[in-house]
Amino acid sequence: MDPQQRAEWLRQEIERHNVLYYARDTPEISDSEWDTLFQELAELERIHPELKTPDSPTQRVGSLPLSNFAEHQHGTPMLSLDNAFTDDDVTAFDERVRKSISEETGLLTADVEYEVELKFDGLSLSLTYVDGILETAATRGDGNIGENVTPNAKTVRGVPLKLATIVKGILEVRGEVVMFKDVFEQINAKRLEQGLQVFANPRNAAAGGVRQLDSRLTSERKLNFFAYGVGVIPDGLKVPSTQMGLMEWLREQGFPVRPETKLVLGAEGILSFVHDAQEMRSRLPFLIDGAVAKVDDMAVQRSIGFTSRSPRWAIAIKFPAEQAFTVLKSIECNVGRTGAVTPYAELEPVKVAGVTIARATLHNYLELERKDVRVGDTVIVQRAGDVIPEVVGPVRDKRPATAMPYLAPDTCPVCGTILVREGGMAVLRCPNSQQCEAQIQRKLEHFASRGAMDIDGLGEKQIALLLSKGLLTDLPSLFRLKDKRDEIITLERMGQQSTDNLLTAIEAAKSRPLSKFLFGLGIRHVGDRTATDLARHYGTLEKFRSTNFDELVSIPDIGPRTAVELEEWLASENNSKLIDELLALGVRPSENESPSGDLFAGQTIVFTGTLNKFTRDAAEQFVQSQGGKAAGSVSKMTSFLVAGPGAGSKLEKAIQLKVPVLTEDEFLEKLPDDMVDKIK
Ligand code: IVH
Repeated sequence: MDPQQRAEWLRQEIERHNVLYYARDTPEISDSEWDTLFQELAELERIHPELKTPDSPTQRVGSLPLSNFAEHQHGTPMLSLDNAFTDDDVTAFDERVRKSISEETGLLTADVEYEVELKFDGLSLSLTYVDGILETAATRGDGNIGENVTPNAKTVRGVPLKLATIVKGILEVRGEVVMFKDVFEQINAKRLEQGLQVFANPRNAAAGGVRQLDSRLTSERKLNFFAYGVGVIPDGLKVPSTQMGLMEWLREQGFPVRPETKLVLGAEGILSFVHDAQEMRSRLPFLIDGAVAKVDDMAVQRSIGFTSRSPRWAIAIKFPAEQAFTVLKSIECNVGRTGAVTPYAELEPVKVAGVTIARATLHNYLELERKDVRVGDTVIVQRAGDVIPEVVGPVRDKRPATAMPYLAPDTCPVCGTILVREGGMAVLRCPNSQQCEAQIQRKLEHFASRGAMDIDGLGEKQIALLLSKGLLTDLPSLFRLKDKRDEIITLERMGQQSTDNLLTAIEAAKSRPLSKFLFGLGIRHVGDRTATDLARHYGTLEKFRSTNFDELVSIPDIGPRTAVELEEWLASENNSKLIDELLALGVRPSENESPSGDLFAGQTIVFTGTLNKFTRDAAEQFVQSQGGKAAGSVSKMTSFLVAGPGAGSKLEKAIQLKVPVLTEDEFLEKLPDDMVDKIK
């Protein structure tokens, strides 16, 4: 192919992938593959400038405007950033900056001061404030004209509707909308249950959320906003003269600005920050795909200037790809605790973001069918942050001629029972809940797990062993093991000591708190938080057993879906028999979960925003252990709200309802010194 043909092909290919990625949210290639195509085109056009066309992807920024929203003309263009992939790229960037400064000033420049930030993996948003009031929010669009998504943006946490001080005139604030990892997992789990297509990654889920036509749907996506810059600023407004100062100023105006943002010196400083960002990456509640370095001095920024696409004074340093290609060797399935049969892929092992992956989820059969993934396909696998590895989709061009469409199983791969379809056909379920060995194994694993009955020494392997010998058959059989001591001792790797330890642990589990017991039963939709709410409300297992739908829905945080599930669970004869048997065997979930202290007795506390000083889980558990209630939403009953950076609608509601708001530090100050460590 001659360079002209190659450039033409690259342009078409990049455009095609842009449409798939931005407009349809169904990427076919990985981000790094896209970057490679783009870099190749940019390089070709650099060597042969005559090949550059006005409609080349290198000449435009951003995604395609969608027709459903009104257009919004940005006050200043929303540019892109040049990418650096290697240390040398960063050094070259720093050299370019220094050269530009010395050309301008005629002086040799010492180390340049850069402000460094996280590179959020989300969707950029431009917020226009007129006289301090949010007037418009718009996506980037083609960089000049974006989509007006104002009602949607108002539901995004961290988008101030009003600035903290009076700023006369027009101010554009730019930043990124992201979906937190835990929200992403929850939303995808729910979509799977409802038979809907799962989102490929939090970025697509956030982008789809911002582009909803009904802003209530945006609100359900629980999005967050982080600011990183400004566009137009009012004439005469005194803003700081450095990027770092600007970020501080934005923070004061009420915008969430990440605390990791800092000043460094030269290329070395940038690289050291990139290293730190990579370290903290998995601990952050949202995804980042790199770091951004910006010349700190804004006068210097102006003198260095822009290309048509990006500022010359800033660079994005991208992390190694979190996606990779590999061959799918086989499609297997897993039978879960509730009988859900889910497919997963056995892969030719491949390194993704530093970790070797040999298995990845395919979510469910509907999803598998939709993606048309076949054995023998080359597939894109993705491991984004802590999100479980998944198969994004096949690379159609590389499909072997022999690859046949995959057919979902009709019968349970473990017990052979005919499977039933549920949830818009998405979920295949083995209905043999009482005898299917896989379900019994998973139920026992869950029952014995840390967060439930916490039976030490009873993990996956021991359960499999005891099941295979017929010593375990169901949950009650666990409490009959004490009569089988002699037999257990003879088992492989058990011995006298481990057997006695195990039996003691099982005995101790008989008096676990009611909340742990209810969680351990593995009732659908009853996670540890709901189990705690139920235990608190009913106090005793007896009262819980005799409840009904109306009482269940009266409990704050328990919705009709969970109430129906619980009512049906309680009405089932098998479940009733199960509880009777457990009681007969001496299981006595302790009725009153006595708090270990009363620091927060009678108080209801809500945590919101990004918590940097402690984890939400630890703080909530601590509040409960001190007699308080940790709630998920703010109401008049809330005693106080603890708000970290990025707090949004809950913070607004608290202010509206005059509920006291504490910072993380103020919350910590409430605790005696010896308790502070307990929640970290
Ligand atoms: S600054 C003129 N800072 O990355 C410079 N961008 O390709 C404008 N992004 O469209 C961008 N984190 O959506 C900047 N800390 C950060 C960022 C960031 C993520 C996104 C942004 C932009 C893209 C650049």
